[in-house]
Amino acid sequence: MQLYIDTASESDVREFATYGIIDGVTTNPSLVASEGISYRETIERLSAVTDGPVFAQVISSDADSMVTEGRAYDGWGENVVIKIPATPAGYEALTRLRADGIQAGITVLFSIPQAILAAKNDATFVAPYVGRLDDAGENGLEVVTGIQEAFDTYGFETEVLAASVRTRTQTTSLYRAGVDAITLPPATLADQFTHHKTDEGLEGFEADWGDRANPLEDN
Ligand code: E4P
Repeated sequence: MQLYIDTASESDVREFATYGIIDGVTTNPSLVASEGISYRETIERLSAVTDGPVFAQVISSDADSMVTEGRAYDGWGENVVIKIPATPAGYEALTRLRADGIQAGITVLFSIPQAILAAKNDATFVAPYVGRLDDAGENGLEVVTGIQEAFDTYGFETEVLAASVRTRTQTTSLYRAGVDAITLPPATLADQFTHHKTDEGLEGFEADWGDRANPLEDN
């Protein structure tokens, strides 16, 4: 199971890397734009602070330009994975980039058929958007588990990367479903460390220990 952080912030990646819980970084154009530095510098910085993959999305909408962008991004780090939107031109770009041996997959994806077409094209991953499906009154979890089941049935190796995951409830359901990979924004990731009973338990231990000496000073 892979757990990614959904951010373009180098300091977020540095922080969560220290906890030992992240396998890589996903970005999107909105996240990169919010950093206020060039796309290339953002991806280079993120690649320098993680050993895992850094996902970078193409901006263009025609296949030739997407391929040109994808080839360039591929040189911006040791382990850059190209995200391509689910459009006909995107599928063409995907097949061309995969033929070059570049890691690439389909994002902004909302259905099982879109995922199957990507897997047929040897996509490295597909990124279904759970939260945005829920926002639209659909069931994001059902779409993700349907994709996972179909891939297992057909024997596709394409990774299912659940994206647009914003809550602990969504994340818990995805964990229970055994999805291949999940990307979470920093706040959602941080929330997973906590439980009110943990805080309550620690308060009790602290109160019972009182002002006794630190164990290492009490010889
Ligand atoms: C995927 O990688 C996207 O960056 C992201 O998960 C979108 O999430 P949002 O729908 O909360 O913007």
